[in-house]
Amino acid sequence: MTGHAERSAKVALVTGAASGIGRATAGRLARDGSDVAVADINTDGARETAAMIQAAGRTARCYACDMSSREAVTAMADAVLSDFGRVDVLVNNAGTGDSNSGLDDIDEPLWDRIYAINVRNPFFLVQRISRDMIEKKTAGCIVNIASTEGKTNRGGSLVYSSSKAAMISLTQGLAMQLAPYGIRVNAVCPGLIDTPIWHRSDKNFGMEPGETVQMVVQSSIESLQLKIPRAGKPEEIAAAVAFLCSADASYMTGQAINVCGGLEYH
Ligand SMILES: NC(=O)c1ccc[n+]([C@@H]2O[C@H](COP(=O)([O-])OP(=O)(O)OC[C@H]3O[C@@H](n4cnc5c(N)ncnc54)[C@H](O)[C@@H]3O)[C@@H](O)[C@H]2O)c1
Repeated sequence: MTGHAERSAKVALVTGAASGIGRATAGRLARDGSDVAVADINTDGARETAAMIQAAGRTARCYACDMSSREAVTAMADAVLSDFGRVDVLVNNAGTGDSNSGLDDIDEPLWDRIYAINVRNPFFLVQRISRDMIEKKTAGCIVNIASTEGKTNRGGSLVYSSSKAAMISLTQGLAMQLAPYGIRVNAVCPGLIDTPIWHRSDKNFGMEPGETVQMVVQSSIESLQLKIPRAGKPEEIAAAVAFLCSADASYMTGQAINVCGGLEYH
């Protein structure tokens, strides 16, 4: 951790930035000129992400935060605002799943945990950060990482998919509520992206890391759903986030953009 944000740089807060899409997004926003607050429950990974950003010459600070706790999220947001002075870009990326839970495997603790991490506390984070954006007249930009599973629930991850649909719905409502303050809110819906989020399924199936996503990619190619015949890369999601946060997307709000190799059309 080094330094304080330069006044001229934008400040981006990325949750779940220790790994996968969050790390790629934090790195991309830094390359595009932002200082970055890196929040994650995985503090070692968050430190690595911050070190990568610092090595590229920008300011980055790490915040240990369990998104399942509203108190932890509020404390993290307060610390980021105190350290950086403001937040211009919030990327609600941290997420967790219930891969391969059958109907009868789903109990209240699983339901509550997934909804807390994927929907409830990302909402309270937006509430806290947008209040500050409004006070400081920041023309802020919020990007929620949803999923193509939020557009079509294929039944493989019942609770996860419904939580991502809720995230898309929240994105639309927040876009409406925050538009009068010049704050844009959009979502990115990744398809099959090769990241560690698949590793729990690898373990469950007794497979090597990365094998499950390749298996799902292969079956999606065979069923003609996946038009670009490979898994996506975290950097391809980061590019869409960077676009939504740029002036080039100045007329876009309330959208949920698929980045999925053609897996989903709607
Ligand atoms: N990889 C895909 O195929 C895919 C597809 C659609 C959507 N997504 C979404 O993209 C986002 C990023 O996932 P990813 O694929 O990069 O996976 P990942 O596992 O590499 O990254 C998820 C990050 O979230 C963090 N996290 C998990 N629980 C947390 C908690 N309680 N508090 C704080 N941080 C927590 C993890 O530590 C990790 O750094 C998630 O919201 C995920 O649902 C991923």
